[in-house]
Amino acid sequence: MSRLRVIVLGSAAGGGYPQWNCRGAVSALFWDGDTRVEERSQSSIAVSSDGENWALLNCSPDIRQQIISTPALQPKQPPRHTPLASILLTNGDIDHVAGLLTLRERQAFRLLATPGILEVLNDNRIFDALDRDLVPRQPVALGETIPLVGEVVAEIFPVPGKVPLYMEKGEPEIGAESETTVGVKISVPDGPKLFYIPGCAHVPAPLKARIAGADLLLFDGTLWQDDEMRRAGVGQKTGHRMGHISMSGSDGSIAAFRDVDLKRRAFIHINNTNPVLVRDSPERREAEAAGWDITYDGMEIAL
Ligand code: MLT
Ligand code: MN
Repeated sequence: MSRLRVIVLGSAAGGGYPQWNCRGAVSALFWDGDTRVEERSQSSIAVSSDGENWALLNCSPDIRQQIISTPALQPKQPPRHTPLASILLTNGDIDHVAGLLTLRERQAFRLLATPGILEVLNDNRIFDALDRDLVPRQPVALGETIPLVGEVVAEIFPVPGKVPLYMEKGEPEIGAESETTVGVKISVPDGPKLFYIPGCAHVPAPLKARIAGADLLLFDGTLWQDDEMRRAGVGQKTGHRMGHISMSGSDGSIAAFRDVDLKRRAFIHINNTNPVLVRDSPERREAEAAGWDITYDGMEIAL
């Protein structure tokens, strides 16, 4: 029997797939009904050791639809109930925190994040819609072992990133490691372990060493190519400028993790311009040939 269950609630990056206002080449396939692509909501996973009580990693603006699509997360007892025990945030980006506003309605759960990420919520009064008596904000330190739900424990560590887009003032520092962008190790005692890293600007050697031997890596799959958004004509920003390493190329994530021992590796937080979203595209085949899965909404992984 598996000891750790994972449900990919949302496999897309900020904006989802398709993005509401996007008719770039990849998004247009969806609007035109092409069966090689499927709808994807914004990045978040759920984890559990008993299948009854769950923790979320990040809380996307699509959480309501994700719960509707996921029987395990639906209320089980009248009059009000949730199988969600806790939510751990990996940064303060809109695609990872805006769903908290949907989870108002006086329901208790624990909200966990680094002090740096909690500061974003504390500075923004709209999040006071979540009553702190019911939804305590629990600061967690880098390296601390955090009980999440059931037997599941988490440990967070800094990864190269940047401040959230809406907090940028001038040119932000890209790739600095701080507690505003973290990766998460999820495990059960003497059991499997997975790493969830939905945003990461590059892959330094200590990060590779940290994740080596894991049962599963869920990693930043935002872009295939650094200048992909420019090429698609949807924006000027590079992946690097957004704090996301690309998948392809000699300095990409596929190459960076090639020699790292992992039982399973999969991309999550995939942008609506990324050609791996298209089944049978050359890029999708290249990623799969290198051993990577492309996650999809509703994907369940038992470890
Ligand atoms: C990102 O991952 O770079 C952000 O979610 C971008 C955004 O907030 O739109
Ligand atoms: Mn994002």
